Amino acid sequence: MRQVPEGHGVALQIEGVGKRFGKTEVLRDVSLTVAHREFVCVLGPSGCGKSTLLRIVAGLEQQTSGRLWKDGQEISRLEPAARDVGMLFQSYALFPNLTVRENVGYGLVNRGIAREEIARRVTDLLALVELPGTEAKLPVQLSGGEQQRVALARALAPSPRLLLLDEPLSALDARVRVNLRQQITQLQRKLKLTTIMVTHDQVEALTMADRVVVMSRGAIEQIGTPTEIYQQPATRFVADFVGKMNFIEARAAGDGTLEAGALKLRVVAPAAAAGTVVLGFRPEEVSFRRAPDGTSAWAARITGIEFLGAAWRATLLCPGLGGHEIHADFSARDGRAFELQSGQDVFIDIPADRLHVFGSAPAAAQASA
Ligand SMILES: Nc1ncnc2c1ncn2[C@@H]1O[C@H](COP(=O)(O)OP(=O)(O)OP(=O)(O)O)[C@@H](O)[C@H]1O
Ligand SMILES: [Mg+2]
Repeated sequence: MRQVPEGHGVALQIEGVGKRFGKTEVLRDVSLTVAHREFVCVLGPSGCGKSTLLRIVAGLEQQTSGRLWKDGQEISRLEPAARDVGMLFQSYALFPNLTVRENVGYGLVNRGIAREEIARRVTDLLALVELPGTEAKLPVQLSGGEQQRVALARALAPSPRLLLLDEPLSALDARVRVNLRQQITQLQRKLKLTTIMVTHDQVEALTMADRVVVMSRGAIEQIGTPTEIYQQPATRFVADFVGKMNFIEARAAGDGTLEAGALKLRVVAPAAAAGTVVLGFRPEEVSFRRAPDGTSAWAARITGIEFLGAAWRATLLCPGLGGHEIHADFSARDGRAFELQSGQDVFIDIPADRLHVFGSAPAAAQASA
């Protein structure tokens, strides 16, 4: 896994940025600091403000409140051209009537650069995105993945210090995506480019990013490394949006344990002093038992099994939870070992440190823990 680059200084600082379109508040108090050479993915559902945030960084949209700095210089009111930012747009639309050469060189022609120099740069960039010799082609003569690489070359043409990618892979089929995913990360490392990429695909964000920013309804829910986001989701929204999680209601018993239905659970996460909380656990953290060894195993009945490819997902009814349905993933090997099948009664166990508590007041909980 990639480490967050340290000691490279701050490339971009976004502080308290808000954006309204008329009466609609699209971004609320967004703050983010990006280090030089860092690859940050902004992840969130459709309409949460990802593109708007990127467009504000590029200067294509003016924030309603807040400020931005790049390499220590305030850019809050700078024209897009003065920001030294390369952007690949969500609808990547190359100019259909221009050749690949003209598309890639588009941002260079009005900069007083000699024609030969532009031609050389375009050839270099096409080699970089592994499309050598395509200069004279028109976009229609290229596949979707190839067009996207030309669009990437176009964004890289002015040698920006900051690269903004808005869903560069969303229009592509699964195999091309995986391929281009690797190409983009390799390129980003090779060119030592600070990069912010927007995606609504969690796998993309988790595999590519040094840090992931999860957004919901115009605000940041959590910023963290991919493992932090997955293993320590800060909010129920993050837990639900990234990966799959079971949620059950529980009551804090006051003695450090939680009661969910008839079950008494020990949790490691700080529980609320009192009141109702939501417990979350991932399907892959559930393990199967032959017998209720100890007190922690729950009785359950398998009501359905779904094939996921690399694993299987069982739907379980737990009488102790008042008939609440939960999901548990298991490997083909465990499926054989426990002879798991629909209709079967089993015992399941979830490690105490894998139970997440949401909906408690975190500050008070920390203090009493
Ligand atoms: N120019 C505009 N005028 C009015 N509303 C806008 C404008 N641009 C965006 N919005 C609204 O702002 C919200 C956020 O839009 P944005 O494009 O940033 O979302 P997004 O997270 O990029 O979504 P998607 O994943 O679908 O691309 C949406 O509700 C959208 O309708
Ligand atoms: Mg968008």
